[in-house]
Amino acid sequence: MTITILGAGYVGLTTAALFAQLGHKIYLLEPNISRLSSIRKGKSFFYEAGLNDLIKAGLNKGTLIPTDSYMEAIPSSEIIFSCVGTPDNPDGSSNLTYVHAAASETAKYARPDAIFVQKSTVPVGTGQAIIDFFSEQKKQIDYVSNPEFLREGTALEDTLFFDRVVAGGHSSDAVDAVLAIYKQLESKSKRIANVVGIEAIRTTTGEYIATSLNSAELIKVTANAFLALKISFANSIAQLADTVDADIVEVMDAVGADPRIGRSFLNAGRGYGGGCFPKDVSGLIASGLQNGVDLEIMQTTQAVNSSMPSYIVHKLQAALGKDVKGTSVAVLGLAFKAGTSDVRRSPGIVMANMLAKRGASVSAYDPQATEEASHEITSSVALHDTLSSAIKNVDCIIIATDWPEFIEQPTDIYASANILVDATNRLNPQAVKEAGLQYIGIGRN
Ligand SMILES: NC(=O)c1ccc[n+]([C@@H]2O[C@H](COP(=O)([O-])OP(=O)(O)OC[C@H]3O[C@@H](n4cnc5c(N)ncnc54)[C@H](O)[C@@H]3O)[C@@H](O)[C@H]2O)c1
Repeated sequence: MTITILGAGYVGLTTAALFAQLGHKIYLLEPNISRLSSIRKGKSFFYEAGLNDLIKAGLNKGTLIPTDSYMEAIPSSEIIFSCVGTPDNPDGSSNLTYVHAAASETAKYARPDAIFVQKSTVPVGTGQAIIDFFSEQKKQIDYVSNPEFLREGTALEDTLFFDRVVAGGHSSDAVDAVLAIYKQLESKSKRIANVVGIEAIRTTTGEYIATSLNSAELIKVTANAFLALKISFANSIAQLADTVDADIVEVMDAVGADPRIGRSFLNAGRGYGGGCFPKDVSGLIASGLQNGVDLEIMQTTQAVNSSMPSYIVHKLQAALGKDVKGTSVAVLGLAFKAGTSDVRRSPGIVMANMLAKRGASVSAYDPQATEEASHEITSSVALHDTLSSAIKNVDCIIIATDWPEFIEQPTDIYASANILVDATNRLNPQAVKEAGLQYIGIGRN
């Protein structure tokens, strides 16, 4: 089978590198020349454990073909997966420029029986608009919504050992054809995992969920919105825990022990960031309003999340007993989460910039994201290549991302500072205090 993947971003590159292991011919179409030339050399433009090995394996076998040409890739492709970006517009709604451009270019070259699969996260109704466009162009291309659920940092594991694959569309044959590729991937998942030395994260088989087109689109944004809601809920209760001297970790451990609730995503801290949750929440709010539905619950989720960096800086100031002006602070963790170099909407960067603006002397370090962060961070923030140089001679340390390098070390490595703000709530407060530092968590004083 010949397949084209449109867009070599976090989703498209991961998908293409894995599908190339199935023996299909995979065109990976990417217009960004710097990303494309890096991939042609066997290197991803972002950090994801195991991905470079997989890219090289696909290039060597000849099953992964990076290109920037629609004319080269599309005419022979039975299935085209669109994985282009869907950033937000200034008003929070989804910017579908790339989505429509990808569909429009595909329509020019696609064979009559092609299937166009949408993996990008789009507002409900987008698929039907593209189907209408295909039919205006007199193209009988089938359309399937197949939303992506991978997480950066575990992108390969999530794709190989998925808990569910959702596919929705008007043609059950097209939906089945898409699900068949994932069945093939699942049957080879252990062998592929061995090639790149990654662990199976699940032993049970994944669920295959065929739905209507609009349901598939709504499933994706609803899942992300609910996870964001859980984080903001935990952060709201954490602020109460701070004032009544309770420990949010103890609270959520016991609350989450109820199987009706579950423990995951009830972690208080610096809030969510990245290329998905913030824009998916604002996109859902905008999509609700366009359809006459005011999703106030998501507006509150967003407001709580935006307030967390300043809440944390405020806590630091309360501990200092003064403004942060003139205080030296090291921010550890600039990636929006551990395991990736992605710094989009990263709370660590927001806090570093906020502190610098308020006159603190800020140093910062991340094990993988320093280069990416250099484009986003205020020039007065000193970026360091090592943890030890970033924390040298500072008064305060903020742990903003739970990289193992920060949370799995003996806490006395931080002992030269006076205050440690654990914005991930992952450290043991007692161990930090025993190392001679004042510990500040979020909802756990
Ligand atoms: N990153 C994640 O963890 C994740 C997880 C699930 C879903 N998603 C969704 O998947 C989609 C892609 O996300 P991403 O993080 O991979 O985005 P990204 O911005 O990293 O990558 C998108 C790529 O598409 C390319 N592109 C733009 N226009 C194109 C066109 N007309 N034809 C071909 N390529 C084109 C861009 O150059 C870019 O390299 C988004 O809708 C996102 O919300 C992302």
